[in-house]
Amino acid sequence: MTGGHRADLAANRAMALRPPARFWMRGLTLSGLLMLLAGFNPEAVLASSSARFEPSSLRCEYLRDPMGIGMGRPRLSWILQPSHTAPRGQKQRAYEILVASSARLLAHNQGDLWQSGRIESDQTSQILYHGKPLGSEQECFWKVRSWDESGKASGWSEAGRWTVGLLSPSDWQAKWIGLDEKAAPGTPGGSMGGPEARRLAARWLRKEYRCDKQVRRAMIYMAGLGLSELYLNGKKIGDEVLSPALSEYAKRVFYVSHDVTKDLKTGDNAIGVVLGNGRFFAPRGKVPTDTRGFGFPKLLFQMRVEYADGSSVLVVSDASWKLTTNGPIRANSEYDGEEYDARMELAHWNTAGCDESGWVSAQVVEAPGGVLDASMIDPIRVTQKIRPATLTQPSPGVWIFDFGQNLVGWCRLKVSGPRGMTVSLRHAETLKSDGTLYLDNIRSAKVTDLYTLKGEGREVYEPRFTYHGFRYVEVTGFPGTPTLETLEAQVVNDDVAGAGEFTCSNPLLNRIYSNVVWGVRGNYRSIPTDCPQRDERQGWLGDRSAESKGETFLFNTAALYAKWVQDMADAQKASGSVPDVCPAYWPIYSDNVTWPSSTVIIPGTLHAQYGDLAVIERHYDSARKWMGYMAGFVTNGIIARDSYGDWCVPPEDPKLIHSNDPNRKTDPALIATAYFCADAMLMAHYASLLGKEADAQHFQTQAATLKQAFNREFLDERKGQYANGSQTSCVLPLAFGLVPEEQRAKVFQHLLDKIENESHGHIGTGLIGGQWLMRALTDNGRADVAYEMATQKTYPSWGYMAEHGATTIWELWNGNTADPAMNSGNHVMLVGDLIIWLNECLAGIQGDPAQPGFKHIILRPEPVGDLKFARATHQSPRGLIASSWSRDDRGFHWEITVPVNAIGTAYVPTKPGTEVTERSRPAQQARGITFKGLDGGRAVFELGSGTYHFDSKL
Ligand code: BGC
Repeated sequence: MTGGHRADLAANRAMALRPPARFWMRGLTLSGLLMLLAGFNPEAVLASSSARFEPSSLRCEYLRDPMGIGMGRPRLSWILQPSHTAPRGQKQRAYEILVASSARLLAHNQGDLWQSGRIESDQTSQILYHGKPLGSEQECFWKVRSWDESGKASGWSEAGRWTVGLLSPSDWQAKWIGLDEKAAPGTPGGSMGGPEARRLAARWLRKEYRCDKQVRRAMIYMAGLGLSELYLNGKKIGDEVLSPALSEYAKRVFYVSHDVTKDLKTGDNAIGVVLGNGRFFAPRGKVPTDTRGFGFPKLLFQMRVEYADGSSVLVVSDASWKLTTNGPIRANSEYDGEEYDARMELAHWNTAGCDESGWVSAQVVEAPGGVLDASMIDPIRVTQKIRPATLTQPSPGVWIFDFGQNLVGWCRLKVSGPRGMTVSLRHAETLKSDGTLYLDNIRSAKVTDLYTLKGEGREVYEPRFTYHGFRYVEVTGFPGTPTLETLEAQVVNDDVAGAGEFTCSNPLLNRIYSNVVWGVRGNYRSIPTDCPQRDERQGWLGDRSAESKGETFLFNTAALYAKWVQDMADAQKASGSVPDVCPAYWPIYSDNVTWPSSTVIIPGTLHAQYGDLAVIERHYDSARKWMGYMAGFVTNGIIARDSYGDWCVPPEDPKLIHSNDPNRKTDPALIATAYFCADAMLMAHYASLLGKEADAQHFQTQAATLKQAFNREFLDERKGQYANGSQTSCVLPLAFGLVPEEQRAKVFQHLLDKIENESHGHIGTGLIGGQWLMRALTDNGRADVAYEMATQKTYPSWGYMAEHGATTIWELWNGNTADPAMNSGNHVMLVGDLIIWLNECLAGIQGDPAQPGFKHIILRPEPVGDLKFARATHQSPRGLIASSWSRDDRGFHWEITVPVNAIGTAYVPTKPGTEVTERSRPAQQARGITFKGLDGGRAVFELGSGTYHFDSKL
């Protein structure tokens, strides 16, 4: 398995140098004054005498200024931003971190919590806090400076901040409150039963608090399950939506933290919380399969107000809070939508002095069971707003809005009309030929938001406890004629930072890339989901095993995937069994190999791409336990545990979901054994990283035994093929290094024959083979065949989807013709290793697993097919990596950027006997470059940080 990594630390903003004021008052001479008056920038003078880079993009546990972190010893990271004039080959020689308990102390360079002193190290990422022990609720302000190799110091970075959450269960004085009934007495209340919809009305909770003293600091810690919104004095606190993160509620519950110091006022304050159902109060009981529910929505709330006089008060959820279910959100469900009756809005419910008649006392209810844990991922937010492209009226009163893009979120509706009129918004991914919504593939999800007008002029509504996957919206019941201004789509996803971009001269590939980006982001819902639209939306493990590495080139997924790996451990049974879906809202413990293998594979991806060893450390025991449990199913070196095969290979008949052709399918025992062997190799690697030598030995032996049995059982040496010779049956052993050396060429040739002769240059894998296919071709010297597949427009291919109007990636290669029971228009799993391939192979930005986190970057582009250029950027943990190449009759032209503190090895394609130049000089003589030799048709150079421009003849 190839490794890889990177992490983004988001925007590499160039930072202005900030000299201490003293410096320039003292240093200001007459000539200095004259220069200043003449427009000379004194900061440039300072820059030339200080380090050639500046620390920026400060992160604490991957997050920017997080509130309420869940640990006392977080890891701190920054990026070194080189100055424009910095010579090549910059490295950090040392750093110093200051952590202070107040912004004032930090400004005076007083790190009362931690003064690291100068530490000789080139590390800039995940540096463990080593200061005074941090207790619950501690506020921390920090900054860092670095020295370069010549010994010059940078300025101090801008300040970062974090606060610690509630670390111990005893910190919580609050009680869980709610209403363990369908609705408050005397009020109507949603539906709870039947095989389908379970849609309670939202619960509204309120409490007042009187503040008589000057406030120094006020923090709120809150878990509102399933979903919640917090208000203080009428204002929504925080900009997150669909909060908190999903979890195995009986094992873990996420709370969120807010600094509300500025939101409190002297006198009476009102706290308001709205609770939605989310997945806690499950949207289904049994459709389409058994679904776990966790009870009625509930709230845990704690606010600590510290006064300027040193005293403090706690405001906590308890029986003194008031509750009603008789508010405007009459029903809410993630699958079915939200029903909002504006006539029932609760006037002033979240401001002080509201009339509480009609409200009941909240019940103190059972805790959900799980440990309270700080949410340590970027929250879900509205990340983009999109106006509709067209509006049509296929029949009277039925209006269809087309947003031009399959997206995830909801609509903001603007409407005015008579009181009591109900406008309906229904969402779909595609249309029927008559221009109306195609809903068959949405299955039982009702995907309908209903808004009943109060009739008071212009009304604006958007739902908050549901989301939809859609491109088209059908509006009915609209008073009058809607316009393109009537709706605005709110795109909603985990607000993970972008991690790079890819573009090339082939417009189809660019289109496919865009389709993938939309699909990936839309399926981030505090877990990676399979789909966002039908009655499913689950975290299927198999969909994201190797594919998750590709996502690291699109977004900074370090924190999100670390959280999902924790979800896997939480869902693991005492026996070691890991489910196929995590959190296990669908409790499918089928004990197959491939889906739960993500519990082994993903920690390695995070290590490779982000240099993050902590996930491997934390998760090792759980992964080891699963390996041990599954080893019990091995017989004679073969494990035949498989549930889904090579899920979704292109079927022979356009109507089929799954192929019936034995030739297209891959032997389940082959798949399971190959994966289990690869898992054992990874476990051996992790064990060595963690210094567990006996374990490493154990897993190596296990891998060797499995490999031997695998070849004995499946390899036909005469034919040079495994089992029936399907594409996947060749790809897995090639990618996992299972093929005996002397058979390798033969097996690879068999794969090529399969692709070219049987599939006519098309993909023939499902999600298992597809996660390795493009790299297996490229690593064996046939990037051109990978390119051929990637740019096909006919079935089956990503291009076929795009040619048939897809703006995301389909669940099935034949998603436009297949049985609607399973043809989501927005699934990530068939992306396979395409994104990895575009970045690592076409653009040529690849990490080196031996030096994780892009400390060493392998720059090896593949100028294949008719491609004229390719460009990619990647925000690695060390900063921005860029590769941009083009070719024309003059040859190959390539610009590369290597970040500070990293080394790049550039493989420049060239014609033997011709010279490679760098900015028009012979490359071997250029500064910051070491010629390492020739490798096939490539000249190899080692590069320090900086930007390089190579030209060669092809
Ligand atoms: C999901 C897939 C999943 C598969 C496994 C489907 O319903 O949408 O993403 O991996 O089931 O059975």
